[in-house]
Amino acid sequence: MSPFPPGSRVALVYVAEQGRVGTEKQMTMVTFKQVSKVYKRGGDIITGLDRVTVEVAEGDFCAFIGPSGCGKSTLLNLVAGLDLPTSGELFLEGRSTSRFTSDDWTGIRRDKIGIIFQAFHLIPGLTAAENVAFPLLLRGERGASVQTRVEEVLELVSMTARRHHRPSELSGGEQQRVAMARAIVHRPQIILADEPTGNLDSQHGAEIILLLRSLVQHFCQTVLLVTHSVAAAEAADYVWAMKDGQLVTKTSQQPLTVGG
Ligand SMILES: Nc1ncnc2c1ncn2[C@@H]1O[C@H](COP(=O)(O)OP(=O)(O)OP(=O)(O)O)[C@@H](O)[C@H]1O
Ligand SMILES: [Mg+2]
Repeated sequence: MSPFPPGSRVALVYVAEQGRVGTEKQMTMVTFKQVSKVYKRGGDIITGLDRVTVEVAEGDFCAFIGPSGCGKSTLLNLVAGLDLPTSGELFLEGRSTSRFTSDDWTGIRRDKIGIIFQAFHLIPGLTAAENVAFPLLLRGERGASVQTRVEEVLELVSMTARRHHRPSELSGGEQQRVAMARAIVHRPQIILADEPTGNLDSQHGAEIILLLRSLVQHFCQTVLLVTHSVAAAEAADYVWAMKDGQLVTKTSQQPLTVGG
């Protein structure tokens, strides 16, 4: 059943997306095998990630929680190819990334990954709609289909009325909604969210997490969410607790269904 108001445009978009998702067998989307990341600064050696082995299946909503400096952002950066492992091996959809060139990673980020940051990182000189269109333009898409898709996702995040506003003319929660629309506009398979509620008050933070949950649940996207917030992590299917660059414990949670 659609979680959106019957007959609304957003409900129609939802139905169209459902047709796209299909019922393929669940596969492993992200695999870390004994992955370590060590930073060298001057004479210091800093361990960002320490022999992490983990699998995240397609469609999982997975949270990583832990204190500052435990390696959460490092883990996400490796999945996006923004940083490379010092040792171990990372697989995306079962394919080893160890021989990926920087062009390969650029293509992966452009086509398969959407990233949501704590500080939103919208482009200040562009309107909300132009920010959301940006990933499509990077992919070489042009014309009416871009505009249609941008309108669809702005409606999904309830930001249609603010589409001509620049980021400085939006509240923090609204900016994060636009950032979320930008992260999903190109239908990426993987969403990486690094403290997406960190700059928001608890109510707006909770709204953003529920919205993220409802979008990815219905579009079968895989989410890796890193957070300090126990409340945010509660939206996940399961939570990995991290400490000192390692995954310590995994807690599975009751499935959370948004909107029936
Ligand atoms: N480019 C870098 N050079 C050197 N050390 C780094 C670098 N990036 C991260 N680190 C170190 O690696 C460790 C893990 O950092 P990371 O950013 O992953 O932590 P985090 O869990 O995301 O923390 P926070 O919750 O504060 O964002 C920290 O000790 C950090 O100082
Ligand atoms: Mg971090």
